[in-house]
Amino acid sequence: MRTKIVAGNWKMNKNLEETESLLTELAAKRPDTDAEIIVSPTFVNLATAVRHLESSIIQVAAQNMHFAPNGAFTGEISVDMLKNIGVETVILGHSERRSHFGETDAILKQKVDSAIANNMRIIFCFGEELEQRKSEEHFTVVEEQLKNALFHLEAKSWEQIVLAYEPVWAIGTGETASPEQAQEMHAFIRKTIAGSFGDAIANSVSILYGGSVKPANASDIFSKPDVDGGLIGGASLKADDFVEIIKAI
Ligand code: 13P
Repeated sequence: MRTKIVAGNWKMNKNLEETESLLTELAAKRPDTDAEIIVSPTFVNLATAVRHLESSIIQVAAQNMHFAPNGAFTGEISVDMLKNIGVETVILGHSERRSHFGETDAILKQKVDSAIANNMRIIFCFGEELEQRKSEEHFTVVEEQLKNALFHLEAKSWEQIVLAYEPVWAIGTGETASPEQAQEMHAFIRKTIAGSFGDAIANSVSILYGGSVKPANASDIFSKPDVDGGLIGGASLKADDFVEIIKAI
């Protein structure tokens, strides 16, 4: 279902004490909202976060997972391990996973299949690099990323998908896509999905924007009709900033 979502991707930040203290502050300061609120601490603190937020509407997501059900994959985490501790959502395809850890569309497709088969919700990230935008390849790049990892899915699996358009040039750079650039791309994404899966599915998928979203720019970006929320990096690490961004939705 198309809902408004504000999700915080904590990346490799916050130790155990810091995680608990940020969650306590967020739970206390959380504004009343119809939007879904999601936080994604690092793997080692996920179980603590789930317990900590047991009586809160704030949800917990993992930042990644392996596609195999189990086995000799040193350092990796399986979908069963996540579900077993109460994590029902996973971020897949973040540009940092793609660029630093070699995650290709083909690998992501396997991760998507594993998450879908295990009833996990996916926040699927994708977006073009600066050079690709400069050379006006951004629509083609985004279309390919979506098609390669998601377009083999059955129609009903789209209920488990949330999309997060994150132009790489806007991640952690302080430079954000303008609300118009975000809207233009989100409308393109919806049209592309409609072309293969029909209007009903295209109109029911939530499409988040990510890349230097801050309290100062969140309202403008969220006001666009095809922007259903945000995936927030740096600004999700400070309770007050994250709360302001939630208020903006
Ligand atoms: P920043 O908000 O720090 O730019 O990060 C965005 C992001 O990568 C969220 O996944």
